[in-house]
Amino acid sequence: MARRLGRKKRPSREAHMLKEQLKIDSGIFDDQTMVYLSKFFNKGVMSRLGFIIARGKEAEVYVAEAGDAEVAKGAKYVIMKFYRVETSSFLNMTDYIIGDPRFSKVSKSKHAIINTWCKKEYGNLEIARLAGANAPKPYMFNGTILAMEFIGSDEGVPAPHLKDAVLEDPEHVMNSIIGQIRRLYLRELVHADLSEYNVLMKGSTPYMIDFGQAVVLRHPNAMRFLRRDVENIVRYFSKHYGIERSAEDVLKYVTGPA
Ligand SMILES: Nc1ncnc2c1ncn2[C@@H]1O[C@H](COP(=O)(O)OP(=O)(O)O)[C@@H](O)[C@H]1O
Ligand SMILES: [Mg+2]
Repeated sequence: MARRLGRKKRPSREAHMLKEQLKIDSGIFDDQTMVYLSKFFNKGVMSRLGFIIARGKEAEVYVAEAGDAEVAKGAKYVIMKFYRVETSSFLNMTDYIIGDPRFSKVSKSKHAIINTWCKKEYGNLEIARLAGANAPKPYMFNGTILAMEFIGSDEGVPAPHLKDAVLEDPEHVMNSIIGQIRRLYLRELVHADLSEYNVLMKGSTPYMIDFGQAVVLRHPNAMRFLRRDVENIVRYFSKHYGIERSAEDVLKYVTGPA
Protein backbone atom coordinates (compact mmCIF):
# COMPACT_ATOMS: atom_id res chain seq x y z
CA MET A 1 0.00 0.00 0.00
CA ALA A 2 2.74 2.44 1.04
CA ARG A 3 4.54 1.61 -2.15
CA ARG A 4 1.58 2.41 -4.28
CA LEU A 5 1.11 5.77 -2.62
CA GLY A 6 4.79 6.56 -3.06
CA ARG A 7 4.57 5.82 -6.70
CA LYS A 8 1.51 7.96 -7.12
CA LYS A 9 3.12 10.93 -5.43
CA ARG A 10 6.28 11.04 -7.49
CA PRO A 11 4.76 12.03 -10.81
CA SER A 12 2.86 14.92 -9.32
CA ARG A 13 5.98 16.53 -7.81
CA GLU A 14 7.87 16.02 -11.05
CA ALA A 15 4.86 17.25 -12.98
CA HIS A 16 4.58 20.32 -10.83
CA MET A 17 8.24 21.24 -11.35
CA LEU A 18 7.90 20.70 -15.04
CA LYS A 19 4.84 22.87 -15.30
CA GLU A 20 6.82 25.68 -13.67
CA GLN A 21 9.84 25.08 -15.86
CA LEU A 22 7.88 24.94 -19.10
CA LYS A 23 5.47 27.65 -17.99
CA ILE A 24 2.51 25.41 -18.65
CA ASP A 25 -0.70 26.27 -16.82
CA SER A 26 -1.79 23.56 -14.47
CA GLY A 27 -4.98 22.03 -15.67
CA ILE A 28 -4.02 21.71 -19.33
CA PHE A 29 -2.40 18.30 -18.92
CA ASP A 30 -2.81 15.67 -16.26
CA ASP A 31 0.20 14.50 -14.25
CA GLN A 32 0.77 11.41 -16.33
CA THR A 33 0.91 13.48 -19.51
CA MET A 34 3.36 15.88 -17.86
CA VAL A 35 5.62 12.98 -16.96
CA TYR A 36 5.50 11.76 -20.56
CA LEU A 37 6.19 15.28 -21.76
CA SER A 38 9.20 15.73 -19.49
CA LYS A 39 11.13 13.15 -21.50
CA PHE A 40 10.78 15.18 -24.70
CA PHE A 41 12.07 18.18 -22.82
CA ASN A 42 14.95 16.28 -21.20
CA LYS A 43 16.00 14.78 -24.51
CA GLY A 44 15.96 18.19 -26.17
CA VAL A 45 13.29 17.28 -28.71
CA MET A 46 11.31 20.34 -27.60
CA SER A 47 12.22 23.32 -25.49
CA ARG A 48 9.00 25.20 -25.08
CA LEU A 49 5.41 24.37 -25.80
CA GLY A 50 3.78 26.92 -28.10
CA PHE A 51 0.19 27.18 -29.21
CA ILE A 52 -2.46 24.62 -29.96
CA ILE A 53 -3.34 24.25 -33.64
CA ALA A 54 -5.92 21.49 -33.55
CA ARG A 55 -8.16 19.93 -30.98
CA GLY A 56 -9.83 16.80 -32.27
CA LYS A 57 -11.58 13.92 -30.66
CA GLU A 58 -8.48 11.79 -30.79
CA ALA A 59 -5.67 14.24 -30.23
CA GLU A 60 -4.56 17.77 -29.49
CA VAL A 61 -1.81 19.12 -31.68
CA TYR A 62 0.62 21.81 -30.51
CA VAL A 63 3.46 23.65 -32.14
CA ALA A 64 6.52 23.72 -29.89
CA GLU A 65 9.96 25.22 -30.17
CA ALA A 66 12.56 22.60 -30.96
CA GLY A 67 15.37 21.76 -28.54
CA ASP A 68 18.91 20.71 -29.45
CA ALA A 69 18.30 16.97 -29.95
CA GLU A 70 20.14 15.36 -32.86
CA VAL A 71 16.94 13.80 -34.20
CA ALA A 72 15.35 17.23 -34.72
CA LYS A 73 18.54 18.84 -36.00
CA GLY A 74 17.98 22.06 -37.89
CA ALA A 75 14.32 22.25 -36.89
CA LYS A 76 13.02 25.44 -35.38
CA TYR A 77 9.64 23.99 -34.48
CA VAL A 78 8.24 20.58 -33.72
CA ILE A 79 4.73 19.23 -33.73
CA MET A 80 3.60 17.65 -30.47
CA LYS A 81 0.58 15.41 -30.84
CA PHE A 82 -1.12 14.50 -27.56
CA TYR A 83 -3.48 11.58 -27.83
CA ARG A 84 -6.42 11.96 -25.51
CA VAL A 85 -7.23 9.02 -23.37
CA GLU A 86 -10.66 10.23 -22.21
CA THR A 87 -12.36 10.98 -25.51
CA SER A 88 -10.53 8.86 -28.05
CA SER A 89 -12.88 6.63 -29.96
CA PHE A 90 -10.73 3.71 -29.03
CA LEU A 91 -13.31 1.14 -30.09
CA ASN A 92 -12.77 2.44 -33.58
CA MET A 93 -9.00 2.30 -33.04
CA THR A 94 -9.12 -1.37 -32.23
CA ASP A 95 -10.37 -2.08 -35.78
CA TYR A 96 -7.13 -0.75 -37.17
CA ILE A 97 -4.90 -2.39 -34.56
CA ILE A 98 -6.50 -5.81 -34.42
CA GLY A 99 -5.81 -7.33 -37.81
CA ASP A 100 -2.47 -5.58 -38.09
CA PRO A 101 0.02 -8.39 -37.50
CA ARG A 102 2.50 -5.92 -36.01
CA PHE A 103 0.24 -5.45 -33.00
CA SER A 104 -1.34 -8.83 -32.47
CA LYS A 105 -0.27 -9.06 -28.84
CA VAL A 106 -1.60 -5.78 -27.54
CA SER A 107 -3.74 -5.73 -24.41
CA LYS A 108 -7.22 -4.35 -24.77
CA SER A 109 -7.16 -1.79 -21.95
CA LYS A 110 -7.87 1.73 -23.05
CA HIS A 111 -4.50 3.09 -21.99
CA ALA A 112 -2.65 0.29 -23.73
CA ILE A 113 -4.63 0.87 -26.91
CA ILE A 114 -3.84 4.59 -27.00
CA ASN A 115 -0.14 3.98 -26.26
CA THR A 116 -0.07 1.45 -29.07
CA TRP A 117 -1.85 3.84 -31.39
CA CYS A 118 0.78 6.50 -30.72
CA LYS A 119 3.60 4.03 -31.30
CA LYS A 120 1.82 2.86 -34.44
CA GLU A 121 1.67 6.37 -35.86
CA TYR A 122 5.39 6.75 -35.16
CA GLY A 123 6.15 3.48 -36.95
CA ASN A 124 3.91 4.35 -39.88
CA LEU A 125 5.61 7.73 -40.29
CA GLU A 126 8.96 5.94 -40.34
CA ILE A 127 7.75 3.67 -43.14
CA ALA A 128 6.38 6.68 -45.03
CA ARG A 129 9.79 8.35 -44.84
CA LEU A 130 11.53 5.20 -46.01
CA ALA A 131 9.04 5.00 -48.86
CA GLY A 132 10.11 8.46 -49.95
CA ALA A 133 6.64 9.93 -49.45
CA ASN A 134 6.30 13.49 -48.19
CA ALA A 135 5.32 13.02 -44.58
CA PRO A 136 6.52 14.54 -41.31
CA LYS A 137 9.69 12.97 -39.97
CA PRO A 138 8.87 11.26 -36.68
CA TYR A 139 11.18 12.39 -33.86
CA MET A 140 10.08 10.50 -30.78
CA PHE A 141 7.10 8.96 -29.01
CA ASN A 142 6.52 8.38 -25.33
CA GLY A 143 3.30 7.18 -23.77
CA THR A 144 0.47 9.09 -25.41
CA ILE A 145 2.64 11.80 -27.02
CA LEU A 146 4.25 11.88 -30.46
CA ALA A 147 6.77 14.49 -31.65
CA MET A 148 7.30 15.01 -35.37
CA GLU A 149 8.51 17.42 -38.01
CA PHE A 150 6.58 20.66 -38.30
CA ILE A 151 5.16 21.22 -41.77
CA GLY A 152 4.87 24.95 -42.19
CA SER A 153 6.72 28.19 -42.62
CA ASP A 154 9.94 29.34 -40.97
CA GLU A 155 7.84 31.74 -38.97
CA GLY A 156 5.92 28.88 -37.36
CA VAL A 157 2.74 29.12 -39.42
CA PRO A 158 1.38 25.62 -40.13
CA ALA A 159 0.85 24.72 -43.79
CA PRO A 160 -2.78 24.92 -44.96
CA HIS A 161 -4.86 21.83 -45.65
CA LEU A 162 -5.38 20.82 -49.26
CA LYS A 163 -9.05 21.69 -48.77
CA ASP A 164 -8.14 25.34 -48.01
CA ALA A 165 -5.37 25.78 -50.55
CA VAL A 166 -5.84 27.37 -53.95
CA LEU A 167 -3.66 25.36 -56.30
CA GLU A 168 -1.89 26.85 -59.27
CA ASP A 169 -1.15 23.49 -60.81
CA PRO A 170 -3.76 21.07 -59.43
CA GLU A 171 -2.89 18.33 -61.91
CA HIS A 172 0.68 18.30 -60.70
CA VAL A 173 -0.40 18.16 -57.06
CA MET A 174 -2.86 15.36 -57.76
CA ASN A 175 -0.18 13.35 -59.56
CA SER A 176 2.20 13.92 -56.69
CA ILE A 177 -0.35 12.63 -54.17
CA ILE A 178 -1.08 9.58 -56.31
CA GLY A 179 2.64 8.98 -56.67
CA GLN A 180 2.95 9.04 -52.89
CA ILE A 181 0.09 6.60 -52.42
CA ARG A 182 2.01 4.30 -54.76
CA ARG A 183 5.27 4.76 -52.88
CA LEU A 184 3.49 3.80 -49.65
CA TYR A 185 1.89 0.82 -51.39
CA LEU A 186 5.26 -0.42 -52.62
CA ARG A 187 6.36 -0.34 -48.96
CA GLU A 188 3.19 -2.23 -48.09
CA LEU A 189 1.50 0.64 -46.27
CA VAL A 190 -1.97 2.13 -46.83
CA HIS A 191 -2.77 5.51 -45.27
CA ALA A 192 -6.43 4.58 -44.73
CA ASP A 193 -7.72 8.07 -43.89
CA LEU A 194 -6.52 10.08 -46.85
CA SER A 195 -8.55 13.11 -47.85
CA GLU A 196 -8.19 16.86 -48.39
CA TYR A 197 -8.08 17.17 -44.57
CA ASN A 198 -4.98 15.04 -44.11
CA VAL A 199 -2.88 16.59 -46.85
CA LEU A 200 -1.01 19.82 -46.06
CA MET A 201 0.28 22.10 -48.80
CA LYS A 202 3.75 23.44 -48.08
CA GLY A 203 4.02 25.82 -51.00
CA SER A 204 3.20 23.65 -53.99
CA THR A 205 4.28 20.39 -52.30
CA PRO A 206 1.64 18.12 -50.77
CA TYR A 207 2.49 16.38 -47.48
CA MET A 208 0.46 13.52 -46.06
CA ILE A 209 -0.17 13.66 -42.31
CA ASP A 210 -2.13 11.73 -39.68
CA PHE A 211 -0.81 8.18 -40.00
CA GLY A 212 -2.28 6.69 -36.83
CA GLN A 213 -4.75 4.50 -38.66
CA ALA A 214 -2.46 3.51 -41.55
CA VAL A 215 -2.26 -0.27 -42.00
CA VAL A 216 0.10 -2.74 -43.61
CA LEU A 217 -1.07 -4.59 -46.72
CA ARG A 218 -1.53 -7.79 -44.72
CA HIS A 219 -4.39 -6.12 -42.83
CA PRO A 220 -7.60 -7.80 -44.06
CA ASN A 221 -9.18 -4.44 -44.99
CA ALA A 222 -6.09 -2.87 -46.55
CA MET A 223 -7.36 -2.97 -50.15
CA ARG A 224 -10.72 -1.53 -49.13
CA PHE A 225 -8.96 1.35 -47.35
CA LEU A 226 -6.69 1.90 -50.35
CA ARG A 227 -9.65 2.15 -52.69
CA ARG A 228 -11.34 4.63 -50.36
CA ASP A 229 -8.17 6.78 -50.20
CA VAL A 230 -7.92 6.86 -53.99
CA GLU A 231 -11.62 7.64 -54.39
CA ASN A 232 -11.38 10.54 -51.92
CA ILE A 233 -8.50 12.12 -53.82
CA VAL A 234 -10.08 11.55 -57.25
CA ARG A 235 -13.38 12.98 -56.03
CA TYR A 236 -11.75 16.08 -54.54
CA PHE A 237 -9.83 17.01 -57.69
CA SER A 238 -12.83 16.33 -59.85
CA LYS A 239 -15.16 18.47 -57.77
CA HIS A 240 -12.83 21.41 -57.16
CA TYR A 241 -10.63 21.46 -60.23
CA GLY A 242 -12.62 19.56 -62.84
CA ILE A 243 -9.90 16.96 -63.32
CA GLU A 244 -11.54 13.72 -64.43
CA ARG A 245 -9.63 10.53 -63.69
CA SER A 246 -11.16 7.17 -63.09
CA ALA A 247 -10.49 5.83 -59.60
CA GLU A 248 -10.19 2.39 -61.18
CA ASP A 249 -7.30 3.51 -63.42
CA VAL A 250 -5.56 5.28 -60.56
CA LEU A 251 -5.89 2.17 -58.42
CA LYS A 252 -4.40 0.08 -61.22
CA TYR A 253 -1.49 2.47 -61.47
CA VAL A 254 -0.94 2.49 -57.71
CA THR A 255 -0.90 -1.30 -57.45
CA GLY A 256 0.84 -1.95 -60.77
CA PRO A 257 4.15 -3.83 -60.95
CA ALA A 258 7.19 -1.92 -59.70
N1 LIG B 1 3.38 17.70 -38.85
C1 LIG B 1 2.45 18.66 -38.86
N2 LIG B 1 2.78 19.92 -39.28
C2 LIG B 1 1.87 20.92 -39.28
N3 LIG B 1 0.59 20.77 -38.86
C3 LIG B 1 0.20 19.56 -38.43
C4 LIG B 1 1.11 18.45 -38.41
N4 LIG B 1 0.45 17.38 -37.91
C5 LIG B 1 -0.80 17.79 -37.65
N5 LIG B 1 -0.97 19.09 -37.95
C6 LIG B 1 -2.22 19.87 -37.81
O1 LIG B 1 -3.01 19.31 -36.78
C7 LIG B 1 -4.25 18.83 -37.31
C8 LIG B 1 -4.64 17.54 -36.62
O2 LIG B 1 -3.63 16.57 -36.78
P1 LIG B 1 -3.93 15.12 -37.29
O3 LIG B 1 -2.66 14.35 -37.22
O4 LIG B 1 -4.63 15.18 -38.60
O5 LIG B 1 -4.87 14.57 -36.13
P2 LIG B 1 -6.44 14.18 -36.09
O6 LIG B 1 -6.42 12.72 -35.86
O7 LIG B 1 -6.98 14.96 -34.94
O8 LIG B 1 -7.07 14.55 -37.42
C9 LIG B 1 -4.00 18.67 -38.79
O9 LIG B 1 -5.17 18.73 -39.53
C10 LIG B 1 -3.06 19.81 -39.08
O10 LIG B 1 -3.78 21.02 -39.19
MG1 LIG C 1 -6.42 14.55 -39.36
